[in-house]
Amino acid sequence: MNFEKYMLRAISLADTYKYTAKPNPVVGALLLKGEKIISEGAHKRFGENHAEINAISLAKKQLGNTFNSFTELTLICTLEPCNHSGKTGPCSQAIIDSGIKKVIIGSMDPNPKVSGKGIERLIQNGIDVEIGLCKELVKKQNKFFFFKHENTRPYLTIKIAASSDWKSHKNDDENIWITSKESRQDVQMVRAQYDAILTGGNTVKNDNPRMNARVNFEVNQPKKILLSNRDNFNELESNFFKDAKVQILKERNIEKIIEGFKVSDICSILVEAGPRLVNAFLLTDLVDELIIYQSCNELGPDGVAWFSEDNAIENFGFKLESSYKIMTDTKYIYKNVKK
Ligand SMILES: NC(=O)c1ccc[n+]([C@@H]2O[C@H](COP(=O)([O-])OP(=O)(O)OC[C@H]3O[C@@H](n4cnc5c(N)ncnc54)[C@H](OP(=O)(O)O)[C@@H]3O)[C@@H](O)[C@H]2O)c1
Repeated sequence: MNFEKYMLRAISLADTYKYTAKPNPVVGALLLKGEKIISEGAHKRFGENHAEINAISLAKKQLGNTFNSFTELTLICTLEPCNHSGKTGPCSQAIIDSGIKKVIIGSMDPNPKVSGKGIERLIQNGIDVEIGLCKELVKKQNKFFFFKHENTRPYLTIKIAASSDWKSHKNDDENIWITSKESRQDVQMVRAQYDAILTGGNTVKNDNPRMNARVNFEVNQPKKILLSNRDNFNELESNFFKDAKVQILKERNIEKIIEGFKVSDICSILVEAGPRLVNAFLLTDLVDELIIYQSCNELGPDGVAWFSEDNAIENFGFKLESSYKIMTDTKYIYKNVKK
């Protein structure tokens, strides 16, 4: 029997929860009797049941009606069932306890601490396991999760807004929007995808930004990281401190800062800062992606330049991947090709 269409169904089911499962991976599961879908499950929210548990629980309600024993069923699961007790019990044990005899898995879990262990336990308990169906799609839909475990650090993206003459902001204290309302709306969608947003002390002091994801759907809000040596933030008045816990780091060395996230559950970080901090990040070689929203208006001589030289982006090792218009602005996406 060809299980591909069922795996694709489980992948699309998983995708529905990409804004609420993060920083966990999205996972979908189906239970099949022959070609009939008995139940479906997904990992809906961080901290809640895993997909396999939801599919099994739902199927239990139909036991004796649409099927007589779990031994008749095949479990389709996009990611390897876990073998550890985290926020929920081990899925491998729940599968064994249910009596399921066949499991089709999209991809192994990339986390070296868990990778292969769930599969091993299933096999040891006499379950027939097949691995790798639509693996690349599962990896793609969990890009940040796989990146984190394969590179032992979070995926790093810098997002900046630039005027047509490549300026970041005005030299005086005047706060102005560089890009259009539509571009700023697009930024909200970008923020919603990331596990954390990082900025610096000057930006929080000068701009008083909220830096949350203001979208019209449910989202597990990004955590906030502030790099600053100052102790004088008025946390009650500063917007940055509202609606999410802020991790303040006094460390100046970017490599050490990123190394510090090796053991955290943060798989992706969006850097939204001014020229000093952005250039400090770009100098490290740790930045994977650069998103630029460029307006068609100049800031002129009063503006502070993003970069000190022409072709800075290419010289930092980035190559343009795509660009498109958002009203009168242009959005550019660059990828680091040096690595
Ligand atoms: N156009 C845009 O997309 C955009 C985005 C964000 C901000 N901005 C503008 O940028 C201006 C501020 O730019 P900025 O770059 O001076 O401020 P920033 O974004 O706050 O970054 C610099 C600050 O980061 C902290 N920091 C920690 N480690 C650092 C390191 N290794 N290298 C450099 N800084 C480090 C320091 O904070 P402490 O001094 O507190 O220790 C430093 O003052 C704002 O006024 C804002 O208007 C523009």
